[in-house]
Amino acid sequence: MLAKVISAAVVGLNSLPVEVEVDISSQGLPSFTIVGLPDKAVEESKERVRSAIKNTGADFPAKRITVNLAPADLPKEGPSYDLPIALGILIASEQLKTDTVSSMFIGELSLDGKLRRSTGVLSSVIMAKDKKITSIFVPVANAIEASVVKGINVYPVTSLFEIFNHLSGKAEIKKQKPLSLKSIYSESFEFDMKDIKGQEQAKRAFEIAAAGSHNILLKGPPGAGKTLLARTLPSILPKATFDEALEITKIYSISGYLENDSLITKRPFRSPHHTTSYIGLVGGGAYPKPGDISLAHRGVLFLDEFPEFQRNVLEALRQPMEDGFVTVSRARGRITFPSKFMLVAAQNPCPCGHFGDPMSECRCTTSEILRYQKRISGPMLDRIDIHLEVPAVKLEKLVADEGKDNEEDSSSVRRRVQKARDLQTKRFAKNKKILTNSEMGNKEIKKYCILSTECIDLLKLAVTKMKLSARSYSRIIKVSQTIADLEGSKEIKPAHIAEALQYRPKMDYL
Ligand SMILES: Nc1ncnc2c1ncn2[C@@H]1O[C@H](COP(=O)(O)OP(=O)(O)O)[C@@H](O)[C@H]1O
Ligand SMILES: [Mg+2]
Repeated sequence: MLAKVISAAVVGLNSLPVEVEVDISSQGLPSFTIVGLPDKAVEESKERVRSAIKNTGADFPAKRITVNLAPADLPKEGPSYDLPIALGILIASEQLKTDTVSSMFIGELSLDGKLRRSTGVLSSVIMAKDKKITSIFVPVANAIEASVVKGINVYPVTSLFEIFNHLSGKAEIKKQKPLSLKSIYSESFEFDMKDIKGQEQAKRAFEIAAAGSHNILLKGPPGAGKTLLARTLPSILPKATFDEALEITKIYSISGYLENDSLITKRPFRSPHHTTSYIGLVGGGAYPKPGDISLAHRGVLFLDEFPEFQRNVLEALRQPMEDGFVTVSRARGRITFPSKFMLVAAQNPCPCGHFGDPMSECRCTTSEILRYQKRISGPMLDRIDIHLEVPAVKLEKLVADEGKDNEEDSSSVRRRVQKARDLQTKRFAKNKKILTNSEMGNKEIKKYCILSTECIDLLKLAVTKMKLSARSYSRIIKVSQTIADLEGSKEIKPAHIAEALQYRPKMDYL
């Protein structure tokens, strides 16, 4: 007899339906074959399925068993086909009588028939709902993740025995309750701007960066508070929308990093060490997994000690930064992961860290300083809208302010950022690809950024005096637009441009 059970394959960030067909025939010697581009983990499925069926108390048929995973040209990876294969065998051998046409099954079996956690379940549930599947059976450990999607019945399954009883009508599995979104949105952050004393200019620059989603480079001596500043950024970013939360969660789900088992509503903050590998940062591998640039999608990628990163690793960032996605190749074809992140990079001004520091003397030679600063390529620096010098706050000030509560907290800054973002949402309402000022191309800049002749004169002067590249010219307009948005101004004013010009790199290292 032939049985058909529906399952899913995760490709990149999304899932596609897979039909698991099981045919059992009495002719020929007993055998167990899986066809349809299975990888090693799917091949090994045979042993797990055989044991799980036996340990559930059912019979493993001593016949010719052929499993076909269709469509055949889609590579099948990982162990999550165990459950549908086992069910297909039970149905085809007529031990289980049930109708599975509108259900989907996902899960890896252990030898005793228990279900293990799977990766990428969220994408599969979203796909199942799109395909008008009414019920999805997932490992109990993935149930909360699956319950984020409304309008589909989610059944948490602990074992093959349990699902056997459910499908044969002996004992029902209780449906998972849909997740209440209110309960998981949290307003608490590990770092708050009110804990940073002084640093008004840096805080202002962070507010602008957050408001327009601009990349930012911090430069200053060790101990100036660069790392501290960077860590407060998530607390002033606008709340992630539900769609953004879904995108973030999907990425963590396929990477196997879903911690609290449900929807991630906080924007991610990733800070890979400078020794990180190319694959670690960009993504890839034998089973391509997202790298840090995708794990930082819709959040912050913090690269501390920026010049210490390997040059090829840094250069690999350039394309994904422009495109908002990264393409990694694998054995068959390529897959794409999203990578819309805000880059925060931090560096010392020179190897010893004290070049230009009024409080300590620099011990580096001029050539050492130049070599250090040249490690970041011009095109890379050009992709960073805001360049910020962070001087150390005097110890006396830190001590004097200790215990005082006179700094603004992150939630007030976040409200202003949100207002500026709302203006941008309106501005780009008709353009599906763009959400923030930083994503504008030259076409959008021409269309949306209103510049008076006074502004244009100021920009012309800056071009000749500061030797701006064409790219930095448009970046200055974008930052000016964000400053105007923060002020609620309909047009860009010369003051906005003047402020944006402060955040350009100094000539000494370009
Ligand atoms: N403006 C500041 N307000 C409060 N603490 C500060 C400030 N600047 C630095 N610190 C403290 O000094 C230490 C070093 O800061 P850090 O962010 O690691 O500096 P950097 O990354 O620039 O080397 C941290 O423990 C931080 O809490
Ligand atoms: Mg640091």
